Amino acid sequence: MRVPVSLVNAFQNDFESTLGDFLLQSRLIDGKDLLENKRYLTRSISPHVKAFSELFNRKEGSQTDGIDREDYWAEGNAKNRRLSYFLSFMPPNLFRVASVWAELHRLGFQFPSTLFSGSGEFRGLEFGAGVASGACGILAGEKFAPLGLPPSGSFALIEQSKAALSLGADWFDYLATAYGQNYRARGFHRRIELNEAWLPKNAPSFHLMVMSFFLNESPLSPEEISLELLKTAENHLEQEGLMIIVEPALKLQSRKLLLLRKALIEKMRAGTSSLKILLPCLGEQACGALIKEEDWCHEEVDWMRPKYLRELDLLTGLDRRTLPFSYLVIQKTKRSLNEIFSNFEGKDEERYRLVSPSKNLSKRTSEFFMCGQDGKRRTRFTPEDLEHPDRGDLLQNVKLHGEPSLTQIDSATLKRYS
Ligand SMILES: C[S@@+](CC[C@H](N)C(=O)[O-])C[C@H]1O[C@@H](n2cnc3c(N)ncnc32)[C@H](O)[C@@H]1O
Repeated sequence: MRVPVSLVNAFQNDFESTLGDFLLQSRLIDGKDLLENKRYLTRSISPHVKAFSELFNRKEGSQTDGIDREDYWAEGNAKNRRLSYFLSFMPPNLFRVASVWAELHRLGFQFPSTLFSGSGEFRGLEFGAGVASGACGILAGEKFAPLGLPPSGSFALIEQSKAALSLGADWFDYLATAYGQNYRARGFHRRIELNEAWLPKNAPSFHLMVMSFFLNESPLSPEEISLELLKTAENHLEQEGLMIIVEPALKLQSRKLLLLRKALIEKMRAGTSSLKILLPCLGEQACGALIKEEDWCHEEVDWMRPKYLRELDLLTGLDRRTLPFSYLVIQKTKRSLNEIFSNFEGKDEERYRLVSPSKNLSKRTSEFFMCGQDGKRRTRFTPEDLEHPDRGDLLQNVKLHGEPSLTQIDSATLKRYS
């Protein structure tokens, strides 16, 4: 997935400085130079980062069970543990969510201005907000790849850990101010039972709902989760509002998201749904990655990590130069994809997205997997201008021949964005 250069670069200097100022003001660190202090990172932060990482990367095979431990925020030295998540996992998750926002931007998505014509205020919501990485990702996304949010608004954060929630709400307010956005967070400390109503009946409707690395913590099956998720979107999303779900790129977690998409589509077709699944698949066709059990689907984005995170990666053996993830974007809308995405051209059935890296077979020819209305295809392409597409890129007006097992593209327009 390609994101704007300004977003890629935003996390080095300015972000680290803003983060340091916030931590200092919140008395979570005693001096800004602690973020550069190897001894401090080694002793106080990296052991917690390793423990979190082991928990999140629970071995493939035992992943079907959720992480049903409400207190994982509180183990050991709770303050350092929270700070470790905040320093190590918040910025990457924030960036992932911002990247999905930027993807909507590059495809030409804009919120209709009439959506905010009532109070003029934006209302967002993050489920399982933790330290508000998802909500803050929207702030960053809107700053560097705007979708037309109004100048002021609020973000409801729902989270079962009181301490994480409090840190997240403060951080959201701080970042919004630093970005010059008149947005404020409202924290709701509660545990959501995912097989019961996620919101009270009298809860307001929202323009945006975000879930970042939340659903995979539930032990419920994708089919079970789809029931209440659908009701929540139908009942509490504004018309033209969005739901963004970001999940790990691990095979089993990613396949669970594909199965969730499948369950949602089945239920939407069985009833009179006002929802549409927009991304990543550019349509509601059957998922090509579900055909083979060993297959799955994920995205990757490059960014410039904050300096302290580079150091932390060296200390912990993690590598966050590239950020993989799986995602889903749903909208409550009656409009067609061509109306929603102003950068779409040509016919729906001639539009494909690359879902794998592009391998150079020669200087002229590359090979990759791509998904379109008719599923997944192993494809070879010899573009005349030698501009080879890569994972996440969009090919339009595609003329091809061959079978899904080996397709040859005769001609296509590669939709490039800055
Ligand atoms: C991996 S963290 C992700 C936090 C944040 N969204 C992010 O992307 O960094 C998952 C969060 O979801 C919260 N959570 C998990 N299940 C929950 C539930 N059923 N109700 C409320 N919060 C929940 C956890 O406490 C945790 O803070």
